[in-house]
Amino acid sequence: MSMEGALKTRPATKVVSWCDQYSVGIASIDAEHQKLIGLINDLHAAMLEGQGKAVMGKILDGLAAYTVSHFANEEKLMRLHRYPGFERHKAEHDKLTEKVKVLQLNFREGTVIITVHVMTFLQSWLVGHIVGMDKQYAALLRAAGVK
Ligand SMILES: [Fe+2]
Ligand SMILES: [Fe+2]
Repeated sequence: MSMEGALKTRPATKVVSWCDQYSVGIASIDAEHQKLIGLINDLHAAMLEGQGKAVMGKILDGLAAYTVSHFANEEKLMRLHRYPGFERHKAEHDKLTEKVKVLQLNFREGTVIITVHVMTFLQSWLVGHIVGMDKQYAALLRAAGVK
């Protein structure tokens, strides 16, 4: 495929790009955050490509499921290392999970479609949480040797 063709079929589809400021300094957690960012970008790309409901729904289901498992991993680590901000952090996870599940349900029922507005919501939902809350546990977990 020519360069031109490659550019045509691969527009700038990223709604959020990983950058160093998002790092919590723990490789395993950064990798999970990168995976979440990847799923949000997949959804955005599918939206731009005008993919059908089945494809969009599948990505959204993947995002919701991975969110649940990522939050569970963080909660396990915070509990294990007696992070004092655990309760507040867990409450925030519960709120975010609820929001994604409502989106997933509404999408499935056809009352919501994936728009730029929804993508902006997901992007700020994730980045806001990483920068605003995940970074707060980072020093403690790093000191405890979590990698
Ligand atoms: Fe996180
Ligand atoms: Fe978190």
